[in-house]
Amino acid sequence: MSQHRLIPAGELAKSEIRLIDIDGRSLLLVNGESGPTLVDRICPHAGGDLSKGSVVGNRIRCPTHSYLFNLETGSCPLGRREGWGPLRVYDLIESDGYLCVETTEL
Ligand code: FES
Repeated sequence: MSQHRLIPAGELAKSEIRLIDIDGRSLLLVNGESGPTLVDRICPHAGGDLSKGSVVGNRIRCPTHSYLFNLETGSCPLGRREGWGPLRVYDLIESDGYLCVETTEL
């Protein structure tokens, strides 16, 4: 399996949201209270730009309607009730001092 290197491990500041482009796809590295996670940039509710959101504990708040998504599971209680999917969360791996994602995840 091949991996895509993202950034050096430990580089993200606390509560930072960093835009990452992988082969034309916009994803976000987000440093919530449980550490860095990689998620989709676009909110699954109605297309809000989560890169302009904010970190609240271990969740990201969408700037459009203020829904909160868990950064480990992608879940949003409002989302489950209304029938739209969770925010996609990708598995991050630390390898040779870098945060990486398996290319098969993308
Ligand atoms: S578009 Fe993100 S909460 Fe509605």
